[in-house]
Amino acid sequence: MTRLLLSVNVDHVATLRNARGGTFPCPVEASRQAIAAGADGITVHLREDRRHMRDRDVERIRAEIPAPLNFEMAATEEMVAIAERLRPPACCLVPEKRAELTTEGGLDLLRASAFLPEAIARLREAGVRVSIFVEADPIQIAAAARLGAACVELHTGPYADAAPEARGPHLTRLRVGAASARSHGLICHAGHGLAYDSIGDIARMPEVSEVSIGHFLIAQSLFEGLPTVIRRFQSLIAAARGTTA
Ligand code: PXP
Repeated sequence: MTRLLLSVNVDHVATLRNARGGTFPCPVEASRQAIAAGADGITVHLREDRRHMRDRDVERIRAEIPAPLNFEMAATEEMVAIAERLRPPACCLVPEKRAELTTEGGLDLLRASAFLPEAIARLREAGVRVSIFVEADPIQIAAAARLGAACVELHTGPYADAAPEARGPHLTRLRVGAASARSHGLICHAGHGLAYDSIGDIARMPEVSEVSIGHFLIAQSLFEGLPTVIRRFQSLIAAARGTTA
């Protein structure tokens, strides 16, 4: 199997910084240290309400961090314009609700905004690889392919949040979703809620080429330190996948 890439979502470093309104801890520095410790890329979600990442954080990470940036964003005029200016290698389109604590589900492509096709076309035109965060549902995955996305990120939240003994049906859905993505020629990523105890099953899916992990990874760093957590994830991934960390 090919290596599974680990993209580290640094949003919650900004959450901690914003709790005191200063400049520490800095998500750019966390990104630097994550890459130095062996992460393969950095993910940031610039939300409409700027509750964690700010525009300047994203600009600096894009300019200063020598690793692929995955820019998570809602498909809005404002965010598309930012992506056109920063030209990250990859964007992941996510649904966004002001009142939610975190992204609550995949983008419903059967009820998506009329602006979505334009957003995808403009991002593609800017040279950005477009991914869409979807539920592991073959209907949604087929819609992503029709819309011209290059990639889908499967929502692993329901699987990761389930008790270990209740994960089976969620895992089956994810496996079906990953196979469906491949059958449409889509790159397949996965993310949301992943932790040490849930990464192995995902890493064993050959179609999945990248995971995006934030909350657990940043929170666990309080206890073990960021480099140790990243190295542990990389070795859990390598062990599950039969590759080298
Ligand atoms: N993928 C997407 C599309 C997300 O919105 C998030 C949360 O920002 C993640 C992955 C990472 O989820 P978590 O922070 O639970 O690891």
